[in-house]
Amino acid sequence: MKDNVRPIDLESVDHVLNTTRSVRLRLDFEKEVPRKIIDEALTIALQAPTGANTQTWRFMVVTDPDLKLGLADCYRKGAEKYVADATALTRTGVSATREFEPDDLRSKQKDGVLKSAGYLMENMQRAPALIVPCIESRFEKEDVFTQASMYGSILPATWSLMLALRARRIASAWTSLHLIYEQEAAQLLGIPADITQTALLPIAWLQGGDLGKAKRLPLEDVCHYNRWGS
Ligand SMILES: Cc1cc2nc3c(=O)[nH]c(=O)nc-3n(C[C@H](O)[C@H](O)[C@H](O)COP(=O)(O)O)c2cc1C
Repeated sequence: MKDNVRPIDLESVDHVLNTTRSVRLRLDFEKEVPRKIIDEALTIALQAPTGANTQTWRFMVVTDPDLKLGLADCYRKGAEKYVADATALTRTGVSATREFEPDDLRSKQKDGVLKSAGYLMENMQRAPALIVPCIESRFEKEDVFTQASMYGSILPATWSLMLALRARRIASAWTSLHLIYEQEAAQLLGIPADITQTALLPIAWLQGGDLGKAKRLPLEDVCHYNRWGS
């Protein structure tokens, strides 16, 4: 019997997976990203899983200059509030103010992240497109199962979108700070009250050379087999 399994070029696939970064400093603000490429990448993103196959995702693609500026303003206000009042996020540990030991990899990476984040904050509206992945319904007061199911039904697609764009030399950055002013962004874009926004990706052609692999905590520090801690 003829084997019709298509061979996968692991080297290219791994390269895309290893080098899809949150690009902030190397976004080309001058060159338009064709809608065809955005639609192609979004169509690939729709191959991601959703809980119970609900597919209740929605993607807002914002290219209008005034709307991009409004959304970027929400982002900037969110960033300012985040820096001024990081208490809620500090509780969960996802905070720019969280301190690690001086020799921890994350301490060494912090300055670079903050510097490039500052640049993106100033320039967000200059990206050719801003994409807001959304999902139907509100679930902030629901239990962990429901929240995981809902975010789990949009965030994998969001990452697929970044990967598909990356494979086409379009860079993007995962951001979330505009969500602090989510309702203001909803009003601006006419997003209905029963829709949850989950991120904001500026996208643009990648400037300069290729992207590289990031340094991460080693696998043995973050993975346990069979029992926590082993
Ligand atoms: C849930 C989440 C929220 C994030 N929010 C922001 C953000 O608001 N602004 C920003 O500049 N980067 C944001 N990032 C990007 C992270 O800072 C970035 O992923 C991290 O520093 C690792 O860098 P890399 O993605 O280039 O590997 C976010 C990433 C995630 C996963």
